[in-house]
Amino acid sequence: MRAAVFAVMALVGLNTASDALADGDATRGAQYYRACVACHALEPGLHLSGPSLGNVFERKTGTAEGFVRYSPGLKAAGFSWNAAALDGWLKEPAAMIPDTYMVFQGIDDPQARADLNAFLEIAGKPGGGEKAVADGLIPAEYLRAGAPEPISDASPEIRIAAIRHCGDSYFIKTEDGQETPYWEKNIRLKIDSVETGPPEGVAVILGAGMAGDRFSVVFSSLADLESLVEEKC
Ligand code: HEC
Repeated sequence: MRAAVFAVMALVGLNTASDALADGDATRGAQYYRACVACHALEPGLHLSGPSLGNVFERKTGTAEGFVRYSPGLKAAGFSWNAAALDGWLKEPAAMIPDTYMVFQGIDDPQARADLNAFLEIAGKPGGGEKAVADGLIPAEYLRAGAPEPISDASPEIRIAAIRHCGDSYFIKTEDGQETPYWEKNIRLKIDSVETGPPEGVAVILGAGMAGDRFSVVFSSLADLESLVEEKC
């Protein structure tokens, strides 16, 4: 999150244009868009910590289908995302919607905002993400951004057959028959309830982070977590 803010500050620093009325340049705007990728995907319906920006252009505030974490203020705002609204938002989100959950410092340079707007006017329209990729504005990875790789067809070595907790450890048995002990503090239990997650009734263990001894165990629901983890020595 912090990195994204610094990234935008650094990028804005490169731009010395001061003509507020100049037209935006989508190619430059695509560079500024790097600051948004940590929290937003462009694939419609794919929500990260922020809602998908696919089809955001001319969409009503706070209405991305399936995104349930909007601030009350953004949900109630009732305007549509056009160039003028986006310009105000990108300048300082909290000035527009005081209770917003979008933690973003804002972009002071009007030219940089115009450029980002020109990019969003392409990428935020139906089919726009693909168009932006086809036109070479952004890499294809930006469509799904930070969304995890789907794990629906996990191999037996990472599919969990049984998981028990004993003392300060988890003993995790995978479907290839191996049982491995892990220090409990190196295991994160996570739920991925959308299509990137495991199938119902299946938990999957994945390496996490730089250190080789950290893992995530991913369940498809809270009910699966409760039924698959057992306290037993
Ligand atoms: C740290 C994460 C984060 C970053 C970085 C971020 N956003 Fe957001 N964004 C959010 C969250 C969370 C919301 C929902 C805010 C709310 O409900 O108040 C949001 C909401 C939005 C909305 C309103 C969407 C809607 O459906 O009404 C737009 C537009 C938007 N962001 C654009 C951007 C752009 C463009 C950038 C890059 C310059 C950016 N955001 C950077 C997290 C982020």
